[in-house]
Amino acid sequence: MARYLITGGCGFVGSHLADALLARGDEVVVLDNLSTGKRANLAPEARVIEGDVADPDAVARAIAGCAGVFHLAGIASVAYCNEHWREGHVTNQTGTVTVFEAAARAGRVPVVYTSSAAVYGDAGPGAVDEARVPRPRTPYGVDKLGSELHGRIAMGVHGLPTVGLRPFNIYGPRQDPSSAYSGVISIFNSRLAQGLPVTVFGDGLQTRDFVYVADVVRFLMAAMAHAPQAAGEVFNICTGRTTTLLALIDTLARLHGRVPVVQHGDPRVGDIRDSLGDPNRARAVLGVTAEVTLEDGLAALLRQSQAAG
Ligand code: UD1
Repeated sequence: MARYLITGGCGFVGSHLADALLARGDEVVVLDNLSTGKRANLAPEARVIEGDVADPDAVARAIAGCAGVFHLAGIASVAYCNEHWREGHVTNQTGTVTVFEAAARAGRVPVVYTSSAAVYGDAGPGAVDEARVPRPRTPYGVDKLGSELHGRIAMGVHGLPTVGLRPFNIYGPRQDPSSAYSGVISIFNSRLAQGLPVTVFGDGLQTRDFVYVADVVRFLMAAMAHAPQAAGEVFNICTGRTTTLLALIDTLARLHGRVPVVQHGDPRVGDIRDSLGDPNRARAVLGVTAEVTLEDGLAALLRQSQAAG
C-alpha cells in the first residue's frame, strides 16, 4: 500500500482513478480547486485538499508523504482555452511545472501526467504514433506540448522521473454534460436522453478515437508502474479505432431507441479534422491496451446515467 496524490481528483478521470487505487488498497490524496470537479464524484475515503495546481504551497502540502503523483488537473476544453488564453496557459502549463518542481523537491517523487492528443494537431487520416512531429493548432495543444517538453528534461536536470500520456477523446460516466465545453459524448448522450436535437459543428465527418475512462485508468496505473524505465517518455492513450461524429450519433441514438435530430453549426476554430492514435508503443512498453469497444462503453455510460436519473 502506498499514498498517491491525484491532482484534479474530483474530476471525471481523476475520480475513477481514485476508485481504482482505493480498491487496490492504496491511500489517495486529492488536490482540486473544484472549478469543474465535484466532491460528490470522489469516494469518501480519499482526502481532499482544496487548492490550485499552479499554487506552489498547495501542491507542496498535498505531495508530502506521497509515493507518486498523477497530475490530471487542467482545463480539458480546447474551445475554452481558445477563449481564455492566459488562464489556460497558467493552469495547463504553469500548473504542470509547479507539480514537477514540487515533486522534485519532495524527493523526486515520480509523476505521471496527462498531455493530450491535441499536441499532434491535424495529423491527417492515418493513425499517429509518438514519433510524429507535434504540430499543435491551439493554445491548449501548445501548453500540453510545453508541459511534455518540461517533463522530458525533468530527469536530466532534476533527476525527476515523469511519464506523459496523450489521451485521445475520453468518455464515460461522470463526464459532466452541463457545459458547452464538455466532451462531445457527454453532451450528445444527455441531449438524446431528453429527446433534444444535437448540434454538430461542421459536417460531422470529423473523426475521433474515443477511449473509455476505465481503460484510461489502466493506462495511468501502468505508466506509474513503469515510471523508472519510461522516465521522460510519452505514450498515446487510444484504441486505434476511428469513428465519425455522425456514426457516433447513430450508435448512441440506437442505444437510446431514438431517431436523432441533427443540427449543424459552424466548425470550431482550430478544430482537428481527424484524430486517430496508434496504440502499439503503449502496448509494447507499458503492457497496456484499451479493451472496451465504443458500443460497450456507450452502453455502460447509458446504464450509469439512467441509474443516476
Ligand atoms: C478532446 C478533449 C481534450 C483532449 C482532446 C484530445 C474534451 C472536452 N476535450 O478535444 O481534453 O485533450 O480531445 O485530442 O474532452 N462537437 C460537436 N458538437 C458539440 C460538441 C463538440 O460537433 O456539441 C465536435 C467538436 O467540434 C469536435 C468533436 O465534436 O469536432 C470533439 O469535440 P470535444 O469533445 O470538445 O473534444 P476535442 O476538441 O476533440
